[in-house]
This record gives sequence, C-alpha cells and structure tokens, in this order.
Amino acid sequence: MPKIILTGSDGMLGKALKKELSGSSELQSFSKNELDITDFVAVAEILEAAQPDFVVNAAAFTKVDAAETDQILAEKVNSTAVGNLARICKKIGAKLIHFSTDYVFDGENENGFPEKDEPNPINFYGKTKLEGEEAIRESGCEFAIIRTSWLFGEGENFVEKMLALGKRNCEIKVVADQIGCPTFSEDLAEAVKKILIENRSGIFHLTNLGKTSWADFARKIFGLAGMDVKVIPVASEEFPTPAKRPRNSVLQNTKLPKMRSWEEALAEFLH
Ligand SMILES: NC(=O)c1ccc[n+]([C@@H]2O[C@H](COP(=O)([O-])OP(=O)(O)OC[C@H]3O[C@@H](n4cnc5c(N)ncnc54)[C@H](OP(=O)(O)O)[C@@H]3O)[C@@H](O)[C@H]2O)c1
Repeated sequence: MPKIILTGSDGMLGKALKKELSGSSELQSFSKNELDITDFVAVAEILEAAQPDFVVNAAAFTKVDAAETDQILAEKVNSTAVGNLARICKKIGAKLIHFSTDYVFDGENENGFPEKDEPNPINFYGKTKLEGEEAIRESGCEFAIIRTSWLFGEGENFVEKMLALGKRNCEIKVVADQIGCPTFSEDLAEAVKKILIENRSGIFHLTNLGKTSWADFARKIFGLAGMDVKVIPVASEEFPTPAKRPRNSVLQNTKLPKMRSWEEALAEFLH
C-alpha cells in the first residue's frame, strides 16, 4: 500500500480526496489547522518523519478576488509553500501531486487550451498558481500537476451559491460570456487515484466533459433541483469584480481518459 500525505484535507477537493484515498492507501491527512503549508519547519518535520511515497497537495489560497488585495498571502500559499513542498519531496524521494487551475490561461482561445499551451494568467490568483507550477518543475521532484476548473462538491462553490440565491429570488442575473468546464470534486478525486495507481507524471487537464457558461450552468442547477428560478444572462461588465476572469477557460484533456459529462455529475451531486 502506498504511503500518502494529504494536505488541505478540509477543502472541497481535499474532502473528496480523503474519502477516495483512504482504505486503499496508508493515508495521513492534514487540514490547515493541523498543518499550515506555509510553516516550512512543520512541513519538513512531518514529511521527513513520514517518508511518504506521495504528497497530495489540496491546500491552496483559492479566493480569486481576495487574491488581488491579499497578494502576499496568496503568493506564500500558492507559490512559495508549493516550492518548499516540492524541494522536500525531491529530498525524500516522494512524488508530488498538485492542483492548478484553468485561470493560468488568458481565455483568448475559442477552442480552449490543451496541456502544452503557454499559460498567460490575467489575474493575481492565476499568476500565483502558475508560479507554483514553475516552482515544482524547477525543484526536480517527480510530479503530476493536475489543472482543473469550476469545481463543485461538498464545500463553498457556485452550485451551493445558486441554490441559496434561488431560495430567496425568483430571478437571478448570471454572467453568460465566460465559458468553462464544471467539475465534480468526487469525479476528480477518482481520476486522481488512477493517476496515482498508474504512476503518471507531467501536466494534466482534468475536468468533467463538456463546457458551458455560468448562466447555463445556473439554469441546469435550478432545473435539476426543481426550482422555478429565471436566469437572466448578463455580460461580465455588469458584474465588475476585483479580479478579471478569462472569457473561455475550457481545458482540453489530450492525455487521459475522459471523465463523464458535467451534467451527469451535477445530477448525481444534486440527488
Ligand atoms: N474551486 C475551484 O473552482 C477550482 C478551480 C480550479 C482549480 N482549483 C484548484 O483545486 C485545488 C483545490 O481547491 P478547492 O476548491 O478544494 O479549494 P478550497 O475548498 O478553498 O480548499 C483549499 C483548502 O486549503 C486550505 N488552506 C489554505 N491555506 C492553507 C495553508 N497555508 N496551509 C494548509 N491549508 C491551507 C483551505 O483552508 P481555509 O479555507 O480555512 O483557508 C482549504 O481547506 C486548489 O489547488 C485550487 O487552486 C480549484
């Protein structure tokens, strides 16, 4: 049984990974309270004592708008701490499984982005996530970096936000000019387990199959939840946010088996 250390285990993806990986591996999981990945001494002590085969890092600063103002912390968690994890992995011979984002791309390609495309982040969160990827590559450790997008599952996310808003409103304005791939955290965790078992390395794009806009995503959520809420499509300009978002951040998966459609995954999540 492989020995795995999981960080960020209380986050949306962390919870799904904890469920998926326990049982078939010797798993030690750490929430932020149990291990802050910016505490470099604690990270080194835990990793060196455990001598894991894999370190799965689900810890991240994920608040896209807050990253524009809380730049020092965003960079420390998403870039500096990730570089530190990678260097320790190199030292102890562990493989690092790390997560990145569609927001490393600028969204200016109608067809979306395959793994080999050059990133060009347009917001600070995307910039720090790209720096994290680069720090891993520079460390010389064995790694799999999995870029994903528009996650939903157990935690704070767009689906939960729409359901809460839908209870209080009969009409909701939702952005219609940003396109991406919604992804169920539990489907992603299952695919991550396969990457571990097959010992794959490199950069991967993993999302549920298909693409949509936030407005059509919201329509599907209300439809599946049986809620009579009208979605009014609006342009991004109507909802100015501190961080710019890419217009089309569809991730093309050209390396791994495709996951099921986002609609099927959403239906399972909501029932
Ligand atoms: N959510 C998405 O739509 C999305 C899209 C693309 C890529 N991703 C990537 O997928 C990965 C997982 O995201 P997620 O949606 O599961 O995010 P999440 O729910 O915000 O989980 C991240 C976890 O990391 C924790 N954390 C923050 N700073 C930490 C630190 N210094 N040390 C240890 N833990 C820390 C957070 O704790 P607190 O909440 O207490 O701060 C949270 O429990 C991330 O790498 C993210 O960039 C997510």
